Amino acid sequence: MDKIRNLADLRELKDKLQSKTKLRDKSETPEQMVQIKVAMATCCIASGSRETMNYIVDELDKRNIDAVVTQTGCMGYCYAEPTVEVILPGKEPMVFGYVDSRKADEIIEKYIKGGMLVEGIIPVNYKKID
Ligand code: FES
Repeated sequence: MDKIRNLADLRELKDKLQSKTKLRDKSETPEQMVQIKVAMATCCIASGSRETMNYIVDELDKRNIDAVVTQTGCMGYCYAEPTVEVILPGKEPMVFGYVDSRKADEIIEKYIKGGMLVEGIIPVNYKKID
């Protein structure tokens, strides 16, 4: 942990902790938030999924978009790594393939913020167990 040297450092720490607490509170009802899952198996990471996840987390923060971002194992679409699943509140999951930072930017701007479909959606080939 960084040292607190002045009032500005203390305020910065307070803001960080408050935003983490806010996110934790909201994560108890994830279905009301944008949920993003990034496949992070070893070969996903080799294909750039860590950079994709970091980009998504940073950009959501910069753009003040509340979302729960988690990492998963292989989603089964290894040919299209890095793969990212996005669930908008009340909508079916959408899985996007080949998500680099340019594609992640497009997903955030057009799909998450605008609700418009973007290229790169992989048809989901699984069913959820209720
Ligand atoms: S191992 Fe990366 S998506 Fe399958």
